Amino acid sequence: MLTLLLTIEVLGVFLVPVGAQLIAVCIKPDNNLRVDCLIEPKPNVISSYEFSWSTGTKETLINTNVSGSAADTELKDRSYVEQRDPHGYSLTMIGFTDGLPHNTTYLCKMSGVVAQINVEKSQLVTCSTISMFLQSSWSWTASCLLLLIYHTHT
Ligand SMILES: *[C@@H]1O[C@H](CO)[C@@H](O)[C@H](O)[C@H]1NC(C)=O
Ligand SMILES: *[C@@H]1O[C@H](CO)[C@@H](O)[C@H](O)[C@H]1NC(C)=O
Repeated sequence: MLTLLLTIEVLGVFLVPVGAQLIAVCIKPDNNLRVDCLIEPKPNVISSYEFSWSTGTKETLINTNVSGSAADTELKDRSYVEQRDPHGYSLTMIGFTDGLPHNTTYLCKMSGVVAQINVEKSQLVTCSTISMFLQSSWSWTASCLLLLIYHTHT
């Protein structure tokens, strides 16, 4: 029983930070920057998005489809947004990766929720590493579940 509780605890501690992360930044294989916004839409609210970034004190709007809200022209021209499955949006920024400032805060807003993440240039990972990380944490979950089933049946 103690082992069972310990297993649940490990599972919880390990998985919550991954599940709760609403924004992630990575570099695509073609060297473009991708910002994933995973905020869940609220029912009965028009799902619109707003991506921005900030270095220091100035926040600049990169891309949005909130009506009446204008993004920086150059940033908007060099970026595009795709809808994610099952919810959320991915922003791709073309040709910014090499000239990024050392320390950047990325923000996304959806349904009145703001998610933000601070990423140092040296910490940027390629997008496939993130999905591999997610996959490995899923197989970790699967092993734990198997372990749980094993324990509850003995
Ligand atoms: C923003 O884009 C999403 C997906 O394309 C769409 O569902 C939503 O209605 C758009 N919002 C506005 C305000 O146009
Ligand atoms: C990066 O910027 C954020 C927000 O301005 C700040 O909190 C953080 O300490 C900075 N990190 C480094 C390593 O300078």
